[in-house]
Amino acid sequence: MSFQIKTFEEYQDAYQRSVKDPEQFWGEIADNFFWKRKWTNVLSWNFKEPDIKWFEGGKVNITENCLDRHIYQYGDKPAIIWEPNDPTEAHRILSYKQLLNKVEQFSTVLKNNNIRKGDRVCIYLPMVPELVIAVLACARIGAIHSVVFGGFSAQSIADRINDATCKLVITADGGFRGTKVLELKSIVDDALMQCQSVEKVIVLTRSRTPIAMLKGRDVWWEDEINKVETQGNPPCPAEEMDAEDTLFILYTSGSTGKPKGVVHTTGGYMVYTGYTFANTFQYAPGDVYFCTADIGWITGHSYIVYGPLSQGATSLMFEGVPTFPDAGRFWDIVEKYKVNILYTAPTAIRSLMAFGDSFVEGKDLSSLRVLGSVGEPINEEAWNWYNEKIGKGKCPIVDTWWQTENGGHLITSIAGVTPQLPGYALLPLPGVQPCLMDENGNEIEGNDVSGNLCIKFPWPGMLRTTWGDHERCKQTYFSTYADKYFTGDGCYRSPEGYYRITGRVDDVLNVSGHRIGTAEVENAINMHSDVVESAIVGYPHAVKGQGIYAYVIAHHHIDAEKTRQDILQTVTRIIGAIAKPDIIQFVDELPKTRSGKIMRRILRKVAEDDLSSLGDTSTLQDPSVVDAIIQGAEKIRQA
Ligand code: PRX
Repeated sequence: MSFQIKTFEEYQDAYQRSVKDPEQFWGEIADNFFWKRKWTNVLSWNFKEPDIKWFEGGKVNITENCLDRHIYQYGDKPAIIWEPNDPTEAHRILSYKQLLNKVEQFSTVLKNNNIRKGDRVCIYLPMVPELVIAVLACARIGAIHSVVFGGFSAQSIADRINDATCKLVITADGGFRGTKVLELKSIVDDALMQCQSVEKVIVLTRSRTPIAMLKGRDVWWEDEINKVETQGNPPCPAEEMDAEDTLFILYTSGSTGKPKGVVHTTGGYMVYTGYTFANTFQYAPGDVYFCTADIGWITGHSYIVYGPLSQGATSLMFEGVPTFPDAGRFWDIVEKYKVNILYTAPTAIRSLMAFGDSFVEGKDLSSLRVLGSVGEPINEEAWNWYNEKIGKGKCPIVDTWWQTENGGHLITSIAGVTPQLPGYALLPLPGVQPCLMDENGNEIEGNDVSGNLCIKFPWPGMLRTTWGDHERCKQTYFSTYADKYFTGDGCYRSPEGYYRITGRVDDVLNVSGHRIGTAEVENAINMHSDVVESAIVGYPHAVKGQGIYAYVIAHHHIDAEKTRQDILQTVTRIIGAIAKPDIIQFVDELPKTRSGKIMRRILRKVAEDDLSSLGDTSTLQDPSVVDAIIQGAEKIRQA
């Protein structure tokens, strides 16, 4: 990989070049990929609209870069290693050649089911190889995939399907997660009662859960593959895509309204995920790379599927959960497949740390060379445990900061190349120009300063729009600060110039590394008939990073415990179990300013049990509300 940075000096040099002449820099990197036709213009952009185009005029198909181009050299090399939920079930390995064949087969299935370039396909599958196959098959024929995480509810799926007017849904009868079976098809059936656009549902057999198959709409994955086999497995050539054609939509929560569909396009995303995968982790040919994320999130898209496969890597995917059958499961997997690079989330590290060291002891982790962290700030205790118990003090840890909207890593150390510091994402990758902004819209220069993190210049992996609502993209990311992409994160820059992400500065929570909008949870809670009003804040949670704290005004006649359970059920129905509040406190009033605005700052302080800095409450309509809330919180803590 000619674009791999090997020393700190090379990093500095690459960084300088990327800032001085971004077009030259990214053009050279893009030359390492296979283009059906070369671009005519590397970059055109303005952040006002925003209107961002990378590699304009270039023709490309990302699956040719992830599959076809490796066949000659790596045809028999494992592309995907799949570890099932149940360790007694056989694992599966798909070589590059086998994966290409399966992707071509399923691409034909998609075409047979009337899917064409530009059509939207919703994928709601468990973490099985067929999920990778489905994603790549869409990309091969130019259909736009919208993967929905298997933990989301029927309502969430329906909202996503309707927003993107998906024509097809790909799901499974059910999925395994630890001891649970997720009834995926049944959830899809519920969702589809609200969706007019869906013509077909392709159903994979996984759990053998009894399901309903609707005549004319639902077909089995296996039957469809059989049909293609009886046709003699015709090859399915990769569709020629414009560099700026949409590759996928992925929904993510913001501080207002429903989740928005982040749109990533083909050429820039391909170049950026490949480049960052190879560099951040210092991937070496032959490495076994294990990312524990779910493909339902951006980490899985970029760093289980597209990034590793475009670099010809072996990507290990895991169907289950870190604690099943016991809290040593990750380490068993590392030992079994001699994993070299492990990429996981602080929440998983903290939860496994809490089970004690006995689950790590005796496991052979000597194959590990690089460790990665993603999704939320990693606290020092978790960092140290990861470093000592898992990395045995020998593995660099890359703390990768980025977002769904970014496509790939923006600020991160590079394994063994740049320095590392617990709690610090450290330095921007080449091509990334971060800046800190103050409340008046001025850039904060110098070091040992904090501010709101923005990015000044486009990078190839950035979002281009939000599906069906460009104005929302503009308002959310490009309007807070003129000519800058606003991340929504707060950040500290140390005296050495190292970046430390301090967390969201908007009303977005980060629960177990998953982004959850407070407004979204409030809307779900407010749908319960006993609820008058609610306010959600985050609070520090030992395992999840942030927990969800709900203040709820309910009708007076309630049975509190019953209503609490009903509210949890309502949130699970409307969003999914991941958004369930950890604490529900019933209150008579919420602290509001005279203009009726909820003062969340106060609610946050009470939830954090930090009463020393409650601040000025005199501007409240009724300051005595705060005392009642403090007393209620105290009771919950004592209980
Ligand atoms: O607050 C930051 C946090 O996660 C947010 C992005 O969430 P999402 O789009 O779901 O993507 C998660 C996986 C890329 C960011 O705005 N975040 C992500 N990585 C880190 C982080 N916070 C601190 N350190 C990180 N390494």
